[in-house]
Amino acid sequence: MERTLVLIKPDAVERGFSGAILGRLEKAGLTLVGLKMLQMDKALAERHYAPHKEKGFFKGLISFITSGPIVAAVFEGEDAVKTARTVMGSTDPSKAEAGSIRKDFGLDIERNAVHGSDSVKTAEQEVMLFFKSTEIFNYTRKK
Ligand code: RTP
Ligand code: MG
Repeated sequence: MERTLVLIKPDAVERGFSGAILGRLEKAGLTLVGLKMLQMDKALAERHYAPHKEKGFFKGLISFITSGPIVAAVFEGEDAVKTARTVMGSTDPSKAEAGSIRKDFGLDIERNAVHGSDSVKTAEQEVMLFFKSTEIFNYTRKK
């Protein structure tokens, strides 16, 4: 079954939206199979955001994502990567779709409440970066 990594970013954690965001993803039919709270250090942040290291916003992004605790979650389901990104909405909250997580909880293009893996391959790597295999669980979601 496909898995994706979701991070609830410091802006959303500190405003008390963690539960609501997890709820939106569960409501979309995804199964929560891993969950933890942590504060990312610079090394982990730079690894996670390595594809963006040449971008102008990289330094600010690292400083923001390490600025406070985050919630890391692994969600599983059919098309989990795409489903999670659809529920999250576009990167910029001001352009995000009505009813999306970023529209409702994001502040601006950087403080946009959540991260979601952008492909199945990236998801596999990102899940491994944040979770040991023993921290991911196997169960069937009931109605
Ligand atoms: P994410 O990786 O967090 O799920 O977001 P995404 O795929 O929609 O966006 P991406 O292009 O991967 O950008 C990663 C994160 O960098 C911050 N960002 N800041 N200041 C800026 O112009 C800018 N652009 C992107 C956002 O926090 C974005 O989620
Ligand atoms: Mg991305």
